[in-house]
Amino acid sequence: MSPVRVAAVADVHCGQDSAGTLAPHYEHLAEHADVFVIAGDLTRRGLPEEAQVLAGELADVAAAVPTFAVLGNHDYHSDEEAMVAKVLDEVGVEVLEGAATTVESEGGARVGIAGVKGFGGGFAGACGTEFGEPEMKAFVAHTREISTRLEACLEALTDADVRIALLHYAPVDDTLRGERLEIYPFLGSYLLAEAIDRAGADLVVHGHAHGGSEKGVTPGGVHVRNVALPVINRAYRVYELG
Ligand SMILES: [Fe+2]
Ligand SMILES: [Fe+2]
Repeated sequence: MSPVRVAAVADVHCGQDSAGTLAPHYEHLAEHADVFVIAGDLTRRGLPEEAQVLAGELADVAAAVPTFAVLGNHDYHSDEEAMVAKVLDEVGVEVLEGAATTVESEGGARVGIAGVKGFGGGFAGACGTEFGEPEMKAFVAHTREISTRLEACLEALTDADVRIALLHYAPVDDTLRGERLEIYPFLGSYLLAEAIDRAGADLVVHGHAHGGSEKGVTPGGVHVRNVALPVINRAYRVYELG
């Protein structure tokens, strides 16, 4: 089995004026990667019109290489997230929202991808808990629910040779280095890392932390990569697995 090459980016924040700005950068992606994953904040305001522009930018690359995405917080802003996902699905970008899928690489490896948005809450020693006001309980419960879903999705990938957890929010604080400490609880949650470590994975890809760092690792030893566009400073990164 040859290594699986995973191209990844996040936070492309496509707007209605973005036509022609992304597609040229993906022209040769299929030559370097077996799968392409996009870790949320696909649009600026979650408008279907923005998703239409992004669909145009991604159509060619999605036809050439299996392409998957999760939604980010920006993609929820206009309460049109279902339409954003539908518009992308129509050009072959599979939006994984609490879902898992397997695709075969050119080298014959089965690549499993589990996708969730994730959410905030913070990290060890500085995190929210389900205590006090209903709003606080709801905040942490949302993260817990998504983390449970992520764990189930990863566990469902029993026939995969390699497993990728695709998130928007960060599961560890390593990849937040560079961001202001005060906003860490809005950038991710340790509950996501706990879920990943229980289920197991070969790679975690996330975005959202535009001012963070690329590389981290979960307490259980799973490599984490923050591929937010301003962090990787290129159209995409390619990681090899297996
Ligand atoms: Fe973003
Ligand atoms: Fe975000």
